[in-house]
Amino acid sequence: LNYATVLQRESPESLRRQIYEEWRAGILSGRFRPGDRVPSTRELAASLGVSRSTVSEAWDQLISEGYLETARGSGTFVCRELPDNLLKADAQPSRRPGHARTKLSRYAAALTGDFRHAPAAPGVISFPPGVPDRDSFPFALWRRLLTRHLRQSPAAVFDYADDSSGYPRLRAAIAAYVARTRAVQCTPGQIVIVNGSHQALDLCARILLEPGQTVAIENPGYLGARRIFASHAARLQPVSIDADGIAIQDLKQSCRLVYVTPSHQFPTGVSMSVARRLELIQWASSRNAVIVEDDYSSEYRYNGPPFPALQGLAGRGAVIYIGTFSKVMFPGLRIGYVIPPRALVPVFRRAKWLADRHTAILEQCALADFIAEGHLERHVRRMRRLYGARRAALVDSLLRHFGARATVLGDAAGMHVMVRFDDPDIAGRAARNKVLLRSADELYLTRPPGREFIFGFSAIGERAIMEGIKRLAR
Ligand SMILES: Cc1ncc(COP(=O)(O)O)c(C=O)c1O
Repeated sequence: LNYATVLQRESPESLRRQIYEEWRAGILSGRFRPGDRVPSTRELAASLGVSRSTVSEAWDQLISEGYLETARGSGTFVCRELPDNLLKADAQPSRRPGHARTKLSRYAAALTGDFRHAPAAPGVISFPPGVPDRDSFPFALWRRLLTRHLRQSPAAVFDYADDSSGYPRLRAAIAAYVARTRAVQCTPGQIVIVNGSHQALDLCARILLEPGQTVAIENPGYLGARRIFASHAARLQPVSIDADGIAIQDLKQSCRLVYVTPSHQFPTGVSMSVARRLELIQWASSRNAVIVEDDYSSEYRYNGPPFPALQGLAGRGAVIYIGTFSKVMFPGLRIGYVIPPRALVPVFRRAKWLADRHTAILEQCALADFIAEGHLERHVRRMRRLYGARRAALVDSLLRHFGARATVLGDAAGMHVMVRFDDPDIAGRAARNKVLLRSADELYLTRPPGREFIFGFSAIGERAIMEGIKRLAR
């Protein structure tokens, strides 16, 4: 039996562990077969130049786990009980990955396509949409708030939370914040803290939809929401966007849920007019349909105060409001909130508990202070100035280099603009000139008009913005 083992003496892994791993892997891969005699501790210790006790400890572990067995008087063997055919099958590298043979659920089978966009190669200028400016976030302050809670209340952040809907002080801080800044009408008890808008959308789909029911989706619209509703087997109805927002006359009678981004429609940037909001609320309540309002970057408006949320206009109408800290703070935080009508709060709370019990407590505690002590609104004010200047730089550069050959769509709001170009070769030109463009094509459920692109302006500086547009025009 060839049992040459190469021990790595500098490795942080103990010699006992290395011997154990080597033999376990050898048995599982079929190198050592059931019934093979293994060397005695004395033999192996001598050949490896280690102490006998090191080998015996490794052997004892392999024996206790059932890889080896001892037969009195005749030595130690690879356990005969190990299912030989399974070991052989495992040792054969399969040409097909294991999961390809596993039958998937309908949900999983429909999960196609990658969710992430490829990062820009070095030297390439990219305009990632919806990404906040990392260098401007007050991380030192954030660290202090986290540390404060670790120090002051380790017991409170250690255990499971009592309530799946979130840390009470955070819910109170959010209720006050959305009332003040978004004219949302709610009590703290209506707020359910979630892991970002995506979880809120997923819970909406689970709670409100049966497979095959119709969901109206803005067209073009947010791909994340579309994929989430589709994953729950909803029938998606694309509804076009005009200058006032979603085109109500196109909504189907059978529609159960309408997903909208009224503050700054994603991606066109249209702000839904008050008349259209009222019409939509009326339409939905007369048909018992639910409106899901995704208010993802509403804080950013550059030519006046933000429009109040649709939720605040709805009275007793069924609007589910979704907010997120991904855009006003940072997306890795993974904290958002959903504000359902009162009657739906218990079911959201239960669904959140089933999904993942509750959102991490430490960050919720720090976030409650961040809001209550005024840091959030101060940060948003600073970012509004910064992003406003970046948006202006982008729009000016487009005008300077393209004139009437590029049309900036939508309102002066949000963290991106959608731009329509005349040049049919704009994408080719971008690639040749080292600019990474994000086409709006995939955001359409219908045949896209083409030549529309999304330019995020929040994550890159004015100089890079101007250089990027200059290159594009080259
Ligand atoms: C329309 C829209 N909704 C929501 C989000 C944010 O999702 P989350 O809160 O899960 O980070 C984004 C981010 O890109 C978005 O564009």
